[in-house]
Amino acid sequence: MLAKWNKVTTLRVVKVALFIVALIPLYMLVQRIALGGLGPDPAQVITESLGKAALQLLLATLFMTPLRKLTGWTGWVRCRRMLGLFAFFYAVLHVLAFLQLILGWGDLWATFTRRPYIIMGAVAFLLLVPLALTSTQKMMKRTGRMWKPLHRLIYLSAFFAWLHFLWQARSDVLEMVVYGVVLIALLAIRAYWFGVSSLVPLKKV
Ligand code: HEM
Repeated sequence: MLAKWNKVTTLRVVKVALFIVALIPLYMLVQRIALGGLGPDPAQVITESLGKAALQLLLATLFMTPLRKLTGWTGWVRCRRMLGLFAFFYAVLHVLAFLQLILGWGDLWATFTRRPYIIMGAVAFLLLVPLALTSTQKMMKRTGRMWKPLHRLIYLSAFFAWLHFLWQARSDVLEMVVYGVVLIALLAIRAYWFGVSSLVPLKKV
C-alpha cells in the first residue's frame, strides 16, 4: 500500500491538512460565539480574531517559498494560493465585522480615512484585492508576465497589515514584535535570494 503513496497523494494530504488548519480560527471563533464566551466586548473580540487570522495566514503564505527551498519539496508552493485566499477570506470577514459590529456603514470614506491605523489596514486590504482577483489559472494566463510582479504586492500588504496591527496595539507588545520579526525574516530571506540570483549572471560574465 505504501508503494502506491506518491507525490500527488502527499500534496493532497498536505493541502487537506493546511485547509483544516486554516479553518481553525473560524471554528474557534464560532465556538466561542455559540458558547457565549466572548466577554464584555464581543464586537472587538470578533474583529480582532478575524484580523489576526488574516495576518497569520498572510505570513503562512509567505512561508511557503522558503519552506520549498529548505525542504526541496515543490508541493509547498502549490499550497500558496489556497493560504493566500484564506488570508483574503479572513480579511474580508474582518472588515465586514468592523463595519457591521463597530462603526456601521455610514460615511465609509470618513471611516476609512480618519484614523492612521485604519488607513494602514485599508491599504493592506486593497493590496490583497488584485491578488485574490488574479489568483485563478485563467487570470494567471491572462495577466501573463505581469502576474509575478503583481503578486509581489503580498509583501507590501503584509507590511501594511503589520503596521496596522502595531499602530492600534494597546498591550501585548511582545506579540507585535514576534509578528514583526517573522515578517522581517521572511522579507530578508527573499531579499537575500533575490540578491544572490541577480549576482549569478554577473559572475558568469
Ligand atoms: C479596511 C481594512 C481594515 C479595517 C477597517 C480594519 C479595522 C480594524 C480594527 C478596527 C481593529 C481593532 C479592533 C479593536 O480592537 O477594536 C483591527 C485590528 C487588527 N487588524 Fe484590521 N482592519 C483592516 C484590514 C486589515 C487587514 C487586511 C489585516 C491583515 C491582513 C488586518 C489585521 C488586523 C490585526 C492583526 C488586528 C489586531 C488584532 C488584535 O489586536 O488581536 N486588518 N483592524
